[in-house]
Amino acid sequence: MSDIQNNKKIIFSGIQPTNTPHLGNYLGALKNWVAMQEEYDCIYSVVDLHAITVRQDPSKLKKQIVETYSLLLAMGINPEKTILFVQGHNPRHAELAWVLSCYTQFGELSRMVQFKDKSEKHSENINAGLFTYPVLQAADILLYNADYVPVGADQKQHLELSRDIATRFNGVHGDIFTLPEAYIIQATSKIMSLSEPTKKMSKSDEKPHASISVLDERDVIIKKFKRSVTDSLAEISYDENNIEKAGINNLLSIYSAVTNKTIDEAVSEFSGKGYGDFKLAVGEAVADMFKPVQDEYARIIADKKFLANCMQDGAERAMKISGRTLRNVYKKVGFLEF
Ligand code: TRP
Repeated sequence: MSDIQNNKKIIFSGIQPTNTPHLGNYLGALKNWVAMQEEYDCIYSVVDLHAITVRQDPSKLKKQIVETYSLLLAMGINPEKTILFVQGHNPRHAELAWVLSCYTQFGELSRMVQFKDKSEKHSENINAGLFTYPVLQAADILLYNADYVPVGADQKQHLELSRDIATRFNGVHGDIFTLPEAYIIQATSKIMSLSEPTKKMSKSDEKPHASISVLDERDVIIKKFKRSVTDSLAEISYDENNIEKAGINNLLSIYSAVTNKTIDEAVSEFSGKGYGDFKLAVGEAVADMFKPVQDEYARIIADKKFLANCMQDGAERAMKISGRTLRNVYKKVGFLEF
């Protein structure tokens, strides 16, 4: 896809290299990233520039960038087809972000819910990058004229802002940017915490048994499921409206997503069985699903040369496309050609 001359729609998405992705990230997003390669021209980025809006330990960050990149390959991102690159390898992102920041209003950024949340959570470090984070995200997307951006609900506001920035820029300078649309990933229901099933599974959950990392070993996965919080109703049934059943609902959703069975099929499979058997079965199904990813990951992370080549190739292809966009933008705003 080094050139965009076919009529496939373009997908762009980014993942922050902070913490190892968990089951919710996999079922909710990353699995779809892999599937979308069939139908679209996909561009995926490990967004290290975004990650430093929150203080990171440099050596840990470096490791996480390599880990995240390798995991995407291990999950089935095909680097021959898809452009998979590390954001920091392509200077166009930071460059376009500056220009776009001059087309973004202070008021717009002040309304971003994620900024408000994160500034509460990191009140000791409310830096300007945290504030302009969505502008960099807009640059990511607009550089490649992406048609669709697969995002979860929490990123919808950022995507809307990307559209607003693009519309404003186009209004002043002519049709430069494609207006990106949110690609709503169809319903694998939300994966909840195993310890507090009314809360979303989260990478940063402090409780060690709350979330399943893609790289957790089999016995760890099973142990976490065994400990997962359920109820005392002792009935494997699905009832979205019964908050008491949140734990069992969550396990049923997970089992259904992992095995491609419907919730009803899952319910009848376990009718008359106890929670213990059910938890074990869910744990085993998840462990089985991650096994090939983990094997492939181990192979890839050990192959430094392959990884370096992939990153290099991905960055070059990304730079080629985004370089054209940035040159055009510079011309339109009145910068001198160089
Ligand atoms: N903000 C996104 C997140 O935290 C990550 C991201 C950065 C992104 N740039 C992007 C997602 C561009 C989609 C498109 O999940």
